[in-house]
Amino acid sequence: MRSLQHISLSVLFILMTSVAFAAPAAKLQGAHADKKALPRSCQACHRGMQMVIDGEEGTCLACHGSDALRQTMVRKGFLKDRGVADLRDIESELRKPYNHPVLTVRGAHRSTETLPEEVTNAKRHSECVDCHDPHLTEKEKPFRGIKGRRVINQMAEIAHEYELCYKCHSTSVNLPAFATDKAAEFRTTNPSFHPVEGEGRLAFVVSLKEPYAARKASVKDLTTISCSDCHGSDAADGPKGPHGSNFSGLLRYNYEMDDARSESEYTYALCYECHSRTSILANESFAYHALHIEGNRSSGQLGTSCFTCHDAHGSTVNPYLLRFNEEFVRPNSEGKLEYLSTGVAARHGSCSLTCHGSEHKIRAY
Ligand code: HEC
Ligand code: HEC
Ligand code: HEC
Ligand code: HEC
Ligand code: HEC
Ligand code: HEC
Ligand code: HEC
Repeated sequence: MRSLQHISLSVLFILMTSVAFAAPAAKLQGAHADKKALPRSCQACHRGMQMVIDGEEGTCLACHGSDALRQTMVRKGFLKDRGVADLRDIESELRKPYNHPVLTVRGAHRSTETLPEEVTNAKRHSECVDCHDPHLTEKEKPFRGIKGRRVINQMAEIAHEYELCYKCHSTSVNLPAFATDKAAEFRTTNPSFHPVEGEGRLAFVVSLKEPYAARKASVKDLTTISCSDCHGSDAADGPKGPHGSNFSGLLRYNYEMDDARSESEYTYALCYECHSRTSILANESFAYHALHIEGNRSSGQLGTSCFTCHDAHGSTVNPYLLRFNEEFVRPNSEGKLEYLSTGVAARHGSCSLTCHGSEHKIRAY
């Protein structure tokens, strides 16, 4: 018995080591397995004699970058002409001022790394292969093959886009100082959250525009959104995905976050994409929306951003995504800085704070 066990253990050991040393032939499926588009298969990326490849973006941008690079790939027979027109220029997106640092960070990605990052001093990075598995990616499922969900002790393949984002924007121990845990902000047990992981808290969101349902009536009604509904290319016809944008925050639409702004469709275009500007400024929900957002014309006081009162992700403390921007909003003379609601959807509550020298002591609406 004992020796049999010993033998089977050593067989297992040999099997394990041979798996570890001889890299298994990668399965190639999905978009890149199409021989009509990539006639030279593996060599399209594993170019030359080298099988070893580092996961840097150059491999990908040869086809997903500028037109000139793509033509070279066609000339060399790695890419069939037919597919060329379909391929988007991801490189020019990544060169925009707000981007994922694909082009600027080198040598940080390891094919064996675990994300969320567990090494405190690991360099923050994001390579194409962190978000797309080149052996399995598909047109309608660009994250196919990416692991990221911890299920008991194993990493399962991600099923939703937000799970991909949480690999680097939730519990990573190397988050930058200014950054927050996004998974904590979107948790569906929070008092309020934008409905990314699941349906939102409110039964009726008066300002919501089509195609979203202000009041969910049937299971077919659209009530959830994704990270990339807000984060992505600023160009209306740009490629999908949060590669880069000319708008700060890598946002698809303009969103001004400062105080003392004059309100316009453009100033808060991000929010007005889904929430009716008319409804907000007609005070259909918060009775003093217009006063705060547009300012007070008679006194010449300019308005303030949605960002002064709302977080765009979620709040672990307040309903209605309320979170005061403490750059402008300070505690009142009693040291209080808080929002209290008077029942859900009652459209009544109170604020204790100071802002622009206006003291609010449990000021009710
Ligand atoms: C679209 C580009 C692309 C194609 C096509 C491709 N590979 Fe890869 N492959 C990569 C990249 C990029 C890496 C490195 C991944 C990393 O570092 O995380 C890689 C890594 C590998 C590895 C190392 C182990 C692993 O999975 O990370 C093997 C083995 C491999 N590829 C084999 C193949 C074989 C065999 C084919 C053809 C059947 C193929 N590849 C086709 C891009 C490609
Ligand atoms: C030889 C050219 C070539 C190379 C190199 C290449 N791709 Fe592709 N890729 C394609 C083609 C062709 C498609 C299919 C496009 C289509 O069907 O419209 C595709 C599809 C994709 C898709 C699916 C989304 C879509 O638009 O279809 C992703 C994601 C992707 N590639 C990422 C990568 C990454 C990451 C790398 C580098 C590791 C890479 N590609 C390298 C040619 C290439
Ligand atoms: C492999 C890691 C990784 C993944 C996965 C990832 N990110 Fe990032 N992201 C980064 C890094 C690194 C930065 C640069 C700032 C930093 O270190 O946080 C960044 C920055 C950002 C920024 C700020 C950009 C700016 O200029 O202000 C946004 C917004 C963002 N990511 C959204 C997303 C979304 C949405 C997803 C999921 C679709 C996602 N990220 C997935 C690594 C990642
Ligand atoms: C309703 C629009 C909206 C949605 C949905 C959204 N974001 Fe954001 N996000 C913003 C805005 C606005 C900012 C800039 C203001 C700020 O920092 O809060 C931002 C900032 C960020 C930043 C940079 C600041 C930081 O704290 O690191 C990251 C990273 C980010 N978002 C990730 C995500 C992820 C991941 C998701 C999905 C799970 C997501 N966002 C969904 C609007 C959105
Ligand atoms: C931080 C994560 C992240 C990084 C890094 C990243 N992508 Fe993407 N990519 C996405 C997401 C998310 C989508 C959109 C998926 C969707 O909404 O369908 C996407 C979409 C795409 C598409 C399809 C565009 C379209 O309009 O159909 C291509 C092609 C692509 N990525 C290639 C690349 C290449 C090449 C790189 C590196 C140069 C790269 N990506 C880096 C997250 C990423
Ligand atoms: C001075 C603080 C403040 C500012 C600035 C502000 N809000 Fe609000 N907002 C509130 C309060 C308080 C509520 C909760 C009202 C209630 O009790 O139902 C609210 C509720 C909402 C709601 C949920 C109900 C609805 O209308 O569907 C939305 C959406 C909203 N605000 C969007 C915005 C947008 C967009 C902006 C910027 C253009 C903005 N808010 C600026 C304080 C503010
Ligand atoms: C892509 C669409 C989209 C964008 C962009 C968007 N929202 Fe929303 N928002 C929604 C949806 C859908 C809900 C409904 C959630 C629910 O059912 O409770 C919602 C709900 C809200 C609520 C009420 C949440 C609650 O639980 O009380 C507030 C406040 C709000 N949004 C503010 C904003 C602000 C401020 C912006 C701009 C920074 C913004 N939204 C941008 C889709 C969007």
